[in-house]
Amino acid sequence: MLIGAPATDREKNKMQREQWGSRFGFIMAAAGSAVGLGNVWKFPYLVGENGGSAFLIIYIAFMATIGIGLMMAEIGIGRYSQMNPVGAFRKIAGRGWSWAGMLGVITAIIIMSYYSVVGGWTIAYFIDTLSGAVVGGTPDELGSKFGALVGDTTRPIIYDVIFLGLTLAVVIAGVSSGIEKAVKVLMPLLFIMLIVLVARSVTLEGASAGIDFLLSPKWDEVGMGTISAALGQSFFSLSLGMGALVTYGSYLNKNDNIRSSASWVCFLDTAVAVLAGFLVMPAVFAFGFNPGAGPGLTFITLPAVFSGMWGGQLFQAFFFFMLFVAAITSSISLVAIPVSYLSEQFHMSRVKATLLVGAIVFVVSIPCSLSLGIWSDYTLFGYGVLDLLSNTVDWYLLPIGGIAVAVCAGWFAYDKIAAELTNHGELPFPLLGAWKFIMRIVAPIAITWVLVGPFLT
Ligand code: PFF
Repeated sequence: MLIGAPATDREKNKMQREQWGSRFGFIMAAAGSAVGLGNVWKFPYLVGENGGSAFLIIYIAFMATIGIGLMMAEIGIGRYSQMNPVGAFRKIAGRGWSWAGMLGVITAIIIMSYYSVVGGWTIAYFIDTLSGAVVGGTPDELGSKFGALVGDTTRPIIYDVIFLGLTLAVVIAGVSSGIEKAVKVLMPLLFIMLIVLVARSVTLEGASAGIDFLLSPKWDEVGMGTISAALGQSFFSLSLGMGALVTYGSYLNKNDNIRSSASWVCFLDTAVAVLAGFLVMPAVFAFGFNPGAGPGLTFITLPAVFSGMWGGQLFQAFFFFMLFVAAITSSISLVAIPVSYLSEQFHMSRVKATLLVGAIVFVVSIPCSLSLGIWSDYTLFGYGVLDLLSNTVDWYLLPIGGIAVAVCAGWFAYDKIAAELTNHGELPFPLLGAWKFIMRIVAPIAITWVLVGPFLT
């Protein structure tokens, strides 16, 4: 800016608050948050357990309606307010709404506590694949190696610290010079690695049985449980209901088109989940393994599959590196939420806020990790700490956060968010009426149903 020249709106804005350097940067950051362990680890085993493509079809239907609608709402809330989630809800809908932002901040810290443990496993598996320690063997042998890692007292915690440390380093570096720089490299790399792996999987002899499994829906296996699992997964996968996109949206340029950016993020997130299905299932079927193996599918079944294939060690190393990339770009967004809250509401420096969040997450992650080993006897309602936290998030915290966003956007701040979605009438949005209807009626009812459904059956 020339000295003495009046500042334009954009320049004023930049002086006040950090912003994404480009639209591409924002889309990669939001897609980085969305694409994570949920897509590559959880989605394929949910498909395997819930009737193959029937689950896929229901999932896509939720993504294309409620998921994308809530994503636009969250980004709109963030950009309108230019604040962290607590300040954002308060600014857009009044004091009484701060709790919705606070819920997001707390949920982020809880998710991060177990996400960093699993993120640590991806580093361990990448290293152990390179050294050959988890290469080759039967599913039983690989199962006991996995059990030995997660049940160990120190190793998973060391990897947890490495994963957390890398995440904190990126967040400390800042929004555009840390987060954006990292995701602009990591996300395209992830897409390339995924496509290479899918190409390898679908060209295996016998892969067609897996492809059939993904393309022929078994509607008779679909029950209430499938539908609520699909909705819950779409929330977790899109990083909805806990302020991640409010936070990222708050750094978004006022001229950007929220509708089209949100559509891109939903598309990329769904595409990665579907591709992960096409990476895992054809390979699992080609080697005669069980598609319904549950959470062990990635860490036990896949290494067994890789060990039977030409170039298996290399592809396995690729796979776990990809899983690590997916996990770290999500964990960056998780940490960014409480960091923005602490630094803005308590005027803490970014470094101090990040280190404080890191310390809290680390302390909570220790019992999470130990709950799979020496502390496995300490349970509440039959669940160890890690499962308890993860289920509380999936079953209660994210749905409550989702309802809060929908009700806030549909009933309490509709005009303000609609103005964000159309850039104050400059951009056409022919489906605005449908979006309003989804926020006001469809999303609150559907999510409430998922929330209370288990108590009714
Ligand atoms: N969307 C991530 C995944 O699918 O793994 C998980 C996640 C990341 C949830 C960030 C929430 C969030 F804020």
